[in-house]
This record gives sequence, structure tokens and C-alpha cells, in this order.
Amino acid sequence: MWPKDVGIKAIEVYFPAQYVEQSELEQFDGVSSGKYTIGLGQCRMGFCNDREDINSLCLTVVHRLMDRYNIKPEDIGRLEVGTETIIDKSKSVKSVLMQLFEPYGCTDIEGADTTNACYGGTAALLNAISWVESSAWDGRLALVVAADNAVYSIGSARPTGGAGAIAMVIGPNAPLVIDRGVRSSCMKHAYDFYKPNLNSEYPIVDGHLSIQCYLSALDNCYQTYCKKVKNKYNYNVTLDNFDSFLFHSPYCKLVQKSYARLAFLDFLNTPKEEISRKYPELIKLHDVKLEDTYLNKEIEKTFINLSKTDFLQKTQPTLMIASEVGNMYTPSVYSGLASLLISKPIKELAGSKVGIFSYGSGFCSTIYSLTITKECKEESDLMKIISSLSYIKEEIGARQKVSPEDYTKILEWREQNCHVVPFSPQSSIQNMFSGTYYLVQVDEKYRRTYNRV
Ligand SMILES: CC(C)(COP(=O)(O)OP(=O)(O)OC[C@H]1O[C@@H](n2cnc3c(N)ncnc32)[C@H](O)[C@@H]1OP(=O)(O)O)[C@@H](O)C(=O)NCCC(=O)NCCS
Repeated sequence: MWPKDVGIKAIEVYFPAQYVEQSELEQFDGVSSGKYTIGLGQCRMGFCNDREDINSLCLTVVHRLMDRYNIKPEDIGRLEVGTETIIDKSKSVKSVLMQLFEPYGCTDIEGADTTNACYGGTAALLNAISWVESSAWDGRLALVVAADNAVYSIGSARPTGGAGAIAMVIGPNAPLVIDRGVRSSCMKHAYDFYKPNLNSEYPIVDGHLSIQCYLSALDNCYQTYCKKVKNKYNYNVTLDNFDSFLFHSPYCKLVQKSYARLAFLDFLNTPKEEISRKYPELIKLHDVKLEDTYLNKEIEKTFINLSKTDFLQKTQPTLMIASEVGNMYTPSVYSGLASLLISKPIKELAGSKVGIFSYGSGFCSTIYSLTITKECKEESDLMKIISSLSYIKEEIGARQKVSPEDYTKILEWREQNCHVVPFSPQSSIQNMFSGTYYLVQVDEKYRRTYNRV
């Protein structure tokens, strides 16, 4: 017998305590006003100075989660990290996190890092779920961490950066239950975004190709998901079956286009007679070949307009953190889940169905769904998760604004010191949120030490 209701039992989100304003970045970069804020749909972008790296981000989020939920080191039997921010190359970030467990004699903890661009967190989550549902499970909880420092070299991709971390506890009897037997993946090979230069934090990115890959992955996953549900439960899935839909968010505008894309797929799955009746003016779009439509602005615009009300209801609330912090890479889609939980009343969330699309360049993608428990009383697990996330809005508002000039200088400094040893960070720790780990130094053997604010 599999354990019942395996899913997410706790969530913690962490983002750095400083940001740059996208409207100021537009001016600084000399692009037309509105390109980043309207064209990409981004308000602000969080970033790390030289005090934070992938290890510190993960230490911070795990320590905070364990404190907030009073989880003991001995409660954890598996620890998975999904990240594409690689510093020690052969050594996993998970091994760094063991410093939070080893002092308590807790070393019997499975798991290692998983990497594939923004998909690593989802791969880690699926591993954790498989462990809980396997013969190896010993009754303890799994901990999934997704974290990245997302930075781009100067150019059009730079405003789509971000940084942050998410930690999630996975186990049975969860308030957010992952639906079984219907998750659907599309895995292929593409050079849309990759990091071949191990001496640089920046990726090589073909932005427009990556958008096409993302949308084609979405098409494939959704169609397979619909087929699997049809085979298993004998009904036709449409967007009407979801109360919320989360997407990996490279930038918020792409998420709105993605929602519209699913509405377009539903349209193509609707019998022609019904289309003639309901939308006679759109009948000419019914016979198009999907692969010919990725650059079709008429289709994009039509379905953005048709799906707008639904988008505002089902997906816009999931973009709160994404619009403020930017693309955090692996945590991005899970920041959508946290945003959703703090943006809708608990009565509306209870018993609802959430669709989730995760994409990582390269390319790996999955759609799955989760069902939120109906149990929403004061002392329920759902209420506990929601109230535990109440700090997010406060912390977003408490961040320090940094000018685009200083932001650029900080990135230049990171570039100059990437893999340079010995290294002593210069940024002040004064404005960091309480409980944040920071880098103290990197010694001549590239060994890193951290302290906590
Ligand atoms: C996304 C990316 C390709 C955009 O860069 P770009 O080519 O300079 O930007 P574009 O010229 O396409 O402009 C972006 C959007 O802003 C719009 N825009 C430009 N100026 C504008 C203005 N002043 N006001 C309003 N909108 C504006 C454009 O029309 C375009 O909209 P569209 O996407 O609906 O066509 C780039 O930021 C990137 O490479 N990002 C990283 C990769 C990524 O995030 N990939 C996603 C999949 S994982």
C-alpha cells in the first residue's frame, strides 16, 4: 500500500534583501520605457551581492524552514537540492546542507543535487515523492530545496534575472496532494540556454529559441496530461478543470502568453461545429498546425484577450513573487505556489485543483497537478502553511532599493571575483534579513565559510 495523500506539507521562501527597480533599469539600459515593465511584465528584480552564493541561499532557506515548522534534524530521511548554480562542480550543495544535520548525529539522509536549468527543483521534488512512495521509505520526511542565483551578462536577457530559494517538506497526509498517475513530461535536446563557461556565472542564451522551446514543451505536456486523464478517468480536461494554473516564470508576460496558449489548445480540441456556433470569426484558426503558430501574433493576441478574465483569476495571483523578485530559476514555479497560497482566501483554496507547468532549458518539462485539501479550519495543516508564509509580503516590502549603477557595479565585482581565491566579500551584512547565512571568506583552497545574521 502506498502512503496516503503524498505531497507538500510545508514551504519556506527566501529572496535577497535588495532589488533593482525595472523602470529605472529601462532608463539606465537606454531601452524604451515600458519594455521591461510592460513588455516583460516585471516590476523589480532581486539579486545577490558578494555575501551570498548558492550554498548560503540553501542554508538560509533550510534553517528558516526547520525553525518555523519546528522540524528536527532526525525527522528528515531524504534531502534533495535542485539547482543550476554550480560552484564546487563535483561536490553537491546538499553536502553543504549536511552541516545542519551532522552535529545532531543525523547522517542517514539520502539524496544529492539535481541539475537541469530551471527544472532541477521539479526533478528533486519528483525524486522525493518517489522515495516516499517506495520500498526504501522509512517513515521520515523528505526535504526538497530549489535555489539559484540567476544573472545574465549585459544585454537583453539581463532584466530577466533574479535570485532566491524555496524549501518544501514532502510526506504523506499532506495538505497539498500531488495527483497520481497523470503527470506528463516532454524531454528533448536543445541548445536554448546552457552554461558551458565554468569560469562565469552567466549562461549562453538564445532567448527567442528558449521561448519557442518553452511553449512547445507546454503544448506537449498539456496534450499528454489531457490524454492521461482521459484514459484514467474518462473525461476531457480543459482549463475549466483547474482553479489555478502555475507556470515556470522566466518573466511574467510569458506566463500570460502560456495561459493563453492553453486556451488555444482547448480551442483546437473543441469540435468544429461548436466553434462555428460560438466563435464563427475564429473558425479559420481551427485547422492550423501547432508547430507553425509559435510566432503567430494574431493567435497570441486573440487568445490573450479571450482568456484574460480567467488568467486574472487563476494565474495572476501566482505571479506576486515572480514580478517582485524575477526569475529565480529552479524556485520560480514554486514561488508561484507560495504566491497563490497567500493571495487567495483559504475558503477558495480549500478543495481546489492546481495545474503546474515546470520547464528547464535544455530541455526538460513536466505538467502535474495537485489537489488542495478541503480541511481549512483554524488548526488545519493548510492554515498552518498559509499563516507560515505571511512574512513574504512584509519582507518584499522591507527590501532595500539599489540603483542600476550600483547593481551593475556589484555584478562587475562578482564577474571579476568569480572563482578567484582567496576572496573576502566586501558588502555589508547590515541590511540582510535576520536568519540569513552570509559568506565570510573563500580560502586559497576554494573552501567557503559562512556565518548567520
Ligand atoms: C525574453 C527576451 C528574449 C526578450 O529580449 P528582447 O529580444 O530584447 O525583447 P523583445 O524585443 O522581444 O521585447 C520583449 C517584449 O517587450 C515588448 N516591448 C518592447 N518595448 C516595449 C515598450 N516600450 N512598451 C511595451 N512593450 C514593449 C516587445 O514588443 C516584446 O513583446 P512580445 O514578446 O509580446 O513580442 C530576453 O529578455 C531573454 O533572452 N531572456 C532570457 C531568456 C528567457 O527568459 N527565456 C524564456 C524561456 S525559459
